[in-house]
Amino acid sequence: METIVPVHPGLPLVGNTLAVARDPLGMFTRLHRQYGRVVRINIGGRNQYMVFQPEDVKYVLQENHRNYGRSPAFRVLKRFLGEGLLTSDGDFWRHQRRLAQPAFHRQKITLLASTMVQESAAWVAELGQSDLSGPINISQALMDVTMRIVCKTLFSTDASHRLNGLSHSLETLNVLANKSLLSPIKWPTSWPTPNNRRYAKARKQVDDLIYGFIASRKQTGTRHDDLLDMLLYAEDEEAGDSPNRRMPEQQLRDECVTLFTAGHETTAVSMAWTLYLLAHNPASLERLQAEVAGVLGTVKTEEGALPPVEAFRAMPYTLQVVQESMRLYPPAWAMSRMALADDHIGPYRIPKGDTVVVSPYLLHHDPTNWPDPERFDPDRFAPGADAGRPAYAYLPFGGGPRLCIGNQFALMEMQILLALLVQSFDIHLVDKKPVRPQPLITLRPSRPIRLQLTARPTAP
Ligand code: HEM
Repeated sequence: METIVPVHPGLPLVGNTLAVARDPLGMFTRLHRQYGRVVRINIGGRNQYMVFQPEDVKYVLQENHRNYGRSPAFRVLKRFLGEGLLTSDGDFWRHQRRLAQPAFHRQKITLLASTMVQESAAWVAELGQSDLSGPINISQALMDVTMRIVCKTLFSTDASHRLNGLSHSLETLNVLANKSLLSPIKWPTSWPTPNNRRYAKARKQVDDLIYGFIASRKQTGTRHDDLLDMLLYAEDEEAGDSPNRRMPEQQLRDECVTLFTAGHETTAVSMAWTLYLLAHNPASLERLQAEVAGVLGTVKTEEGALPPVEAFRAMPYTLQVVQESMRLYPPAWAMSRMALADDHIGPYRIPKGDTVVVSPYLLHHDPTNWPDPERFDPDRFAPGADAGRPAYAYLPFGGGPRLCIGNQFALMEMQILLALLVQSFDIHLVDKKPVRPQPLITLRPSRPIRLQLTARPTAP
């Protein structure tokens, strides 16, 4: 039997937009408590169905995923990312995903991970040489190193001289995309509004860089074991001898920009939260350092050589710390889909064209599946601790066929960065004021996280 979806009251014309814009996490948390399973709200003139229960989330993302396409929210991202993996849909997306998937197989990740070890070790060494007499802005430092890692693994290039400009462009794009999502008035993108002008400038800066990488690779023809090569030489078996066997330039640009954007900011933000949590939880930090010392202290390497990638796979507690950090602060805090045809989620009717919103943040803070949910406790991810927990109660990387293609890449990168950093440094919070999560496209700290690093006596 059909049940009417409860509707949360809002203001005339703007619906619930202002309340959501003011405090999205607070508002969503209240809606979850009040309605429990599903509620309809109105944001920016559109009906949105929030689904709160893991089994309903599984239904949308996995069981009936063909009925749930990219929502209008993705149009904003499309302006920048084009028809890349994150924003495309339907058969076109399936085709692109098939082409890109081999680049993320386990052996390929292992290969890319040795680059991660080199870059992370160089970064930690540079930190050690820098002036550590006062606190450092670790958020910015992580943005730089994850950018370096993505440049090396994607393009085998060191673009560090352009890093500052780029971080700033991506920041601009993030803030503008978010503003545009919440605004009920959509100015045409061709109008020379200040926001559109800033957006175009930021986009051009990123495009110049990416097209430059593609052009120089095509010119030299040199082969590299990086993600760009995998995309350049990926072939569509079904295209026969047609010139479309390989990705056209524009598509290459879209996929590169997508991997580049999706691949660095999320990881940097997540790492910053992880260090923030560890600075608050010295017992966990100590246990982590003991694990790292136990593994890295015993691997046999030649004098001055870096530890092998396998060593980082033998650090279960390091992984648990990262997983717990992404539970408390999932960088992708909300995801949305559009119903392509009328459907039912349980007894609730979802009309064609309306949006369904899933929030990993709410799922991860639900006391039903996470007792004492605000407490940082990496043992929630100890072997066997997930018995009885629904699979979709935890989805930092999404779920179903659109699961993050870079999830293994990201976990590996975070484990490596974290292990090498805490091996060399103790970390302390200087500013005791709590940092709040600020939900833009990603869940960022409300202000940059500043930490005091002190070299450890046992550091290499
Ligand atoms: C902590 C780091 C990361 C987090 C939390 C994260 C999270 C996510 C989530 C939740 C989705 C699904 C979005 C949806 O279904 O609407 C996604 C998709 C995606 N992610 Fe990640 N991601 C991370 C790192 C990366 C990395 C390192 C890469 C690439 C190198 C990457 C590339 C992508 C791509 C291409 C998609 C679209 C996949 C598709 O739809 O086929 N991500 N990510």
